[in-house]
Amino acid sequence: MQFSERIEKIPPYLFAELDRLKQEKIAQGVDVISLGIGDPDTPTAPFIVEAMKKAVEKSEHHVYPPYEGIKEFRQAVADFYERRYNVPDLNPKDEIIALLGSKEGIAHISLAVLDPGDLLLVPDPGYPVYSTGAVFAGAESYIMPLLPENRFLPDFGKIPSEVADRAKMMFLNYPNNPTAAVASMDFLKEAVAFAKKHNIIICSDNSYSEIFFDGYRPPSILEVEGAKDVAVEFFSLSKPYNMTGWRIASLVGNKDVVNALLTIKKNLDSGTFTAVQEAAAVALNHGDSFIEDMRKIYDRRMNKMIPTLQEMGIKVEKPKGSFYIWAPVPNGMTSIQFTRDLLERTGVIVTPGTGFGTHGEGFFRISLTQPDHRIDEAVERLAKTQVYA
Ligand code: MLT
Repeated sequence: MQFSERIEKIPPYLFAELDRLKQEKIAQGVDVISLGIGDPDTPTAPFIVEAMKKAVEKSEHHVYPPYEGIKEFRQAVADFYERRYNVPDLNPKDEIIALLGSKEGIAHISLAVLDPGDLLLVPDPGYPVYSTGAVFAGAESYIMPLLPENRFLPDFGKIPSEVADRAKMMFLNYPNNPTAAVASMDFLKEAVAFAKKHNIIICSDNSYSEIFFDGYRPPSILEVEGAKDVAVEFFSLSKPYNMTGWRIASLVGNKDVVNALLTIKKNLDSGTFTAVQEAAAVALNHGDSFIEDMRKIYDRRMNKMIPTLQEMGIKVEKPKGSFYIWAPVPNGMTSIQFTRDLLERTGVIVTPGTGFGTHGEGFFRISLTQPDHRIDEAVERLAKTQVYA
């Protein structure tokens, strides 16, 4: 059998590998606590589940859904953007579509924008699917390093102008996965100006925008005046509403880019189950206080984990957004050495920084998406190690 060269270029999917490691340890009898993947442990809110139960009973929902998504869902996204970000002018008709989760849209948008040999600007460390999309399209990725000395923001001034001129698209993601860094409005303005100057489409991945702490509120790039000329944003229901398994997100913003992805999707999938979209619209319209409760849960977990890491001698500050902690590995170990050592000593799985790219070396990521008692148990096991100081 022969497979495509493309397949050879795709590395093992990070979170599938972590899952394999977890199953291996469980089979050995280890009581594993996985702080690896960012998959909320708390169930989807009961009012969303109830809406789904009602929606699934409707036989008119059992046929193919509209490719762009149902009107109610797209309107709910527009209303959410107006209420939450003060972005009042998103037109549900042609500036918003439904996705089968933002991962799907992120992977496919490269097929809509990039030809073989084209250039994509990707943050490193970053969500692995950004550069996998470029591989699918036969395009090249140019790495924008996210460095601690630049608060994990790309330095546009360091991108050579011939690279910037060649680039067709760029991914940004704040609050950031994996570094938990946040971006100011000034940075987003700079990004839009840079993109306009070099004719680059910005794909803002705003999957973590609703998880924030201590008075900070992450913006949307669409709040920047004129952003819609060059930018689209992925907004996912997975993390704010604990709906990772439901596969529902949206792409919003520049209508030409939205339409280009829709063209790809019309030929690839047949839309998101209408009942899921109906329940998702209910989530968007009535879920603000649920998200508020989720924020309190993650805040509590942060306030437990951060001091434990600090007491272990790990230099880390509480982030302003996301449910991730991005911390330097202690004792000069590599990311992989540390995560393996930690797993052997404590049964706790964390994600090695290099899983997110070469600039993740020297770091590891903790995801606070385990029930409180398991976080407590992880904190206790970490505190007991006393070997990393
Ligand atoms: C992560 O852990 O980085 C995310 O949960 C992965 C994803 O959203 O696909």
